[in-house]
Amino acid sequence: MAGSFGLGISTADDPVDWDALTRYATEVMQRAYAPYSKYKVGVAGLVDDGRVVLGCNVENAAYGVALCAECGMVSALHATGGGRLRAVACVDGQGRPLMPCGRCRQLLWENGGPTMELLTARGVVTMDQVLPDAFDSSDLDAAADGSSGPDAPDQENPA
Ligand code: THU
Repeated sequence: MAGSFGLGISTADDPVDWDALTRYATEVMQRAYAPYSKYKVGVAGLVDDGRVVLGCNVENAAYGVALCAECGMVSALHATGGGRLRAVACVDGQGRPLMPCGRCRQLLWENGGPTMELLTARGVVTMDQVLPDAFDSSDLDAAADGSSGPDAPDQENPA
């Protein structure tokens, strides 16, 4: 299926095969479209059902609309059936671990949550280590409950 390449490398309880995930990320990195920065990125995510979803960065002559590799991977996650990201390996043009940018950490948080594991140059870390105090849907829920503090806007009479 598009974006998942029909890959599956584990079941939910198996330990994460970081070597396989890194290999997939390095393969898809070679398909990146990065003619402007020349900085290719590839990413592979292990989904909680054992699927592997992939992404690479796709740049544009209008530089600001470049798509990070993680954006493509998250789109592939949903396009191929959804689920939660369990583990992610993101690599640069040399196949070395790359720390996702701030915006992509937010994307990973949304789709993997605080316990999702990320391979970094200093080893495997969890999302709550790379995005502490994250904003997420619980903040929206708290605001809707009116429990987000004295400054919460009055829903009946917004200013
Ligand atoms: N890039 C990613 O794909 N993911 C990141 O987390 C960091 C940056 C891409 C965007 C752009 O195409 C290139 O790397 C240089 O910034």
